[in-house]
This record gives sequence, C-alpha cells and structure tokens, in this order.
Amino acid sequence: MKFGIISVSDRCYRGEREDQSGPAIAESVEPLSEANEYRLVPDEKALIEKALIELCDDARCDVIFTTGGTGFAPRDVTPEATKAVIEKEAPGISEAIRARSLEITPRAMLSRAVSGIRGGTLIINLPGSPKAVRESIEIVLPILPHAVETLSGNTQSCGGNYGK
Ligand code: MTE
Repeated sequence: MKFGIISVSDRCYRGEREDQSGPAIAESVEPLSEANEYRLVPDEKALIEKALIELCDDARCDVIFTTGGTGFAPRDVTPEATKAVIEKEAPGISEAIRARSLEITPRAMLSRAVSGIRGGTLIINLPGSPKAVRESIEIVLPILPHAVETLSGNTQSCGGNYGK
C-alpha cells in the first residue's frame, strides 16, 4: 500500500515550528506500510490542491492523509481544497473519525474534515495535532486494506453480490 502524507501548516511551512503530525502519521501507518510521499504546504487552498493532485495523479498513492487546517480558523481550508479535487465523497470515514473522537473530546466536533476518492486514491483529512492524528488513524487503519482493495476494482472480499 502506498501512503502519502500532506502536512498543512503555515507555521511549519515558515520553519517556525517543527512538523510533528506528519511523522505521527508515518509512525501510525507503519503496521500496514511505510509512508512513501511527504509534502509540507502552507494553509493555501491552491497549494493544498496542487499537492493532492500530485500525490494522486503522479505518485499514484493508494491513500493520502492530510493533517491540519480542518478547524474554524480563518485560514483553515483543507476540506475546501479536498472537496475541489475529489470525484466522490466518502463521508462514512470522516463520520466515524468524528463519532469515535467525540468519545475522547467534545472538541472533535470542531473538525470539518472530509474524505473522498480521486481516481484510485482515497484522501482522508485529519486534524492538526499529533494527538488527534494518532487517535484518528487508529480508527480508520483496520478498514484501509479493504478500502484500497475495492478501490482497485477487486470486490471479491466484500462478501456480497458485487461486481456482476
Ligand atoms: N480529534 C481527536 N481525535 N482528538 C483531538 O484532540 N482536536 C479537535 C478536533 N478533532 C481533536 C480532534 C480540535 S481542538 C480542533 S480545533 C479540530 O480537530 C480541528 O483541528 P485542526 O484545525 O488542527 O485541523
């Protein structure tokens, strides 16, 4: 499985803070595969879109995790950039992350994160803190192999009457 990571943060991009959330993603996905692509971009919609398109269309990642820019701050635009590049929404993933995260903190309702599909790539927005990243990935990690398998056209393991 090929993973891409996009850290979205003005402060990390300017070098004022070290990106801890990108490495937290890499560490969390290790049980499935190493992370193959990494980008650090500022909270600029066009630059987030560009990084997403590169990792989908050129690098052909199976799954891309973004971290940061999902909240209510004026410059938080990661969900908007994601919605601009996806072809299909995958709301269940973000619903599950928010629902399970609400058991940990009521602030989970402040994340506007979305998930969706572009070509053969699943894009999943995560909040910005390393803590939130670890908590969120733990929720979705078990479904990723099946998600990637179905995305590639293999529906055998769904168990239903698919792919007729
Ligand atoms: N989800 C989990 N699991 N754990 C957290 O600590 N923090 C919340 C929320 N989701 C959090 C979480 C907070 S405080 C905010 S403001 C939003 O994610 C948005 O974060 P972002 O703007 O860094 O993307």
